[in-house]
Amino acid sequence: MQTARTIAQLRQRLAAARRAGHRVGFVPTMGNLHEGHYSLLRLAREHADCVVASVFVNPTQFGPNEDFARYPRSPDADAAGLQEAGCDLLFLPSVEEVYPYGVEQCVKISVPVVGATLEGALRPGHFDGVATVVGKLFNLVQADVAVFGQKDYQQLLVIRRLVRDLAFPLEIVAAPIVREAHGLAMSSRNQYLDAATRAKAGVIHATLLAMAEGVRNGDSHAAVESAAAAALAAAGLSPDYAVLRRAADLSQPDPGERTGLVALVAVRAGSTRLIDNTLIQPQS
Ligand code: PAJ
Repeated sequence: MQTARTIAQLRQRLAAARRAGHRVGFVPTMGNLHEGHYSLLRLAREHADCVVASVFVNPTQFGPNEDFARYPRSPDADAAGLQEAGCDLLFLPSVEEVYPYGVEQCVKISVPVVGATLEGALRPGHFDGVATVVGKLFNLVQADVAVFGQKDYQQLLVIRRLVRDLAFPLEIVAAPIVREAHGLAMSSRNQYLDAATRAKAGVIHATLLAMAEGVRNGDSHAAVESAAAAALAAAGLSPDYAVLRRAADLSQPDPGERTGLVALVAVRAGSTRLIDNTLIQPQS
């Protein structure tokens, strides 16, 4: 695996792959990598001959009171894991390389509507930061395909809109959510949790499955949502939301809608926020 720390190095290394006629796949990350990230690398490998990963903790997607400074960083373990997962090129830029005018003066990309609700409402500016950095990274890597996890379902929709609306010439592939044995979706933030909270957090996935079951049973959306919030609170997790939305654009479904829905949950466990979701499949 090669490593590029500057845009010039990245371009030089990618030029060789392009000359060889390789299809380039891209997996953007913020590092502190786990099995969820590595599953994206392996999926990218199925769609591309040359796989590029970026590790960049992006300051513009963190709010002023969020965990940018203490976000977990593990560069050596990440490099070893990426190599193992079949990464060809690691892009590891500095903040100055990505934001030449500084983070206050950078050009911003904003994705309205799907970026404004749920996480966007609770974390103002978050998805502007995500769309801005991902747009820059797309311009830098010029990949044919990029892989994003369904774990961050709203982010995936934001990226799809970014790509279509600004006509980025690449395909977006969605990767399934990788979970720990008791159901907790893997996340770099899980390591903030003490053992007891981590064990309790399995209730998030159980709640999502119960929400899907409730919809399939014909329960009202309001009843499904309030039962979910109660189950999370009973486990000591404070729900920010536990809602049913249209999977296509996160708009509110009509009371009778039973298909094309996604259940989304965000909770606070102490000072750590956890998010998860599940698409609601019709009864098989
Ligand atoms: P990060 O949280 O590091 O996640 C990088 C990618 O890994 C995202 O596409 C995310 O959805 C995916 N991912 C994380 N946990 C996963 C899991 N348990 N199962 C499947 N996929 C998982 O998301 C970001 O970084 C940033 O916002 C980024 C897109 C890199 C822009 O800065």
